[in-house]
Amino acid sequence: MKPVTKNGVLYLSEPQEHGFEKAYLSLREKENRLLSDSQVAKLPYLVNHALEKEWKLRQESTERVLNYFKDKELVNVFEIGAGNGWFSNQLSLAIPNATVYAIDVNAKELEQCANVFSKNKNIKPVYWNIFDKQTFLPKPGLIVYNASIQYFPLLKEIILRSFEVMKAYGEIHIIDSPIYAKNKALEAIERSENYYKSQGFPEVSKFYFHHTFEELEKFNHKVLYQPSVLAKILGKGKSPFPWIRISKY
Ligand SMILES: C[S@@+](CC[C@H](N)C(=O)[O-])C[C@H]1O[C@@H](n2cnc3c(N)ncnc32)[C@H](O)[C@@H]1O
Repeated sequence: MKPVTKNGVLYLSEPQEHGFEKAYLSLREKENRLLSDSQVAKLPYLVNHALEKEWKLRQESTERVLNYFKDKELVNVFEIGAGNGWFSNQLSLAIPNATVYAIDVNAKELEQCANVFSKNKNIKPVYWNIFDKQTFLPKPGLIVYNASIQYFPLLKEIILRSFEVMKAYGEIHIIDSPIYAKNKALEAIERSENYYKSQGFPEVSKFYFHHTFEELEKFNHKVLYQPSVLAKILGKGKSPFPWIRISKY
């Protein structure tokens, strides 16, 4: 489609009124995950809130990842599944010379991103389904999936598509998402289905996918952080999710 900007968001795909966005936003509301502008501006720091503990773990993983990126020479970065854009903001502060495209298919949270981070000229909120053809955005050297890869049905397909839209020596980073050992995936699928049913949104299961380490084997990848089993069980203030880097070459 012809690019248009509305309420600070650049549209490169036709917005979908039904389907994923609607079901996802209703669940987010029920889970208390839709935050006010002033809360979003301070993320990953969130206090006096039901999700304070969860965000404490996200602070830990954010710090680790930003440390890795802070000296990198990057010009363009895509965060795919950026939501309200808090992590795109953090990335752009860590890599001040880069433009960070906060990409999502959730117009409501992208508008919040445009509003909350309007002073940061290095963040561009974009409504784009990565599988749609577009020639408007530059090719990034880095694509980050932060807590979003589980919304893409096939790991192989999203990795190959990411390679297509990025530079020749680009990297993909997957953070704050569960990736399962093959023998644990089935139990996890059942747990998720039961969870969404219990919340009154069984249809969200259709949009939530369980990826395995096995699917990564055919790619040049490295696990940069793997939580220990003990830390997972005991909490220990450490993120329960791995951090994975996939290199195009
Ligand atoms: C749990 S949120 C993560 C938001 C943010 N990255 C964070 O770390 O807090 C997952 C996001 O992925 C987005 N998403 C799901 N499917 C997508 C798709 N096909 N293309 C782009 N974004 C998608 C959702 O709309 C949602 O905003």
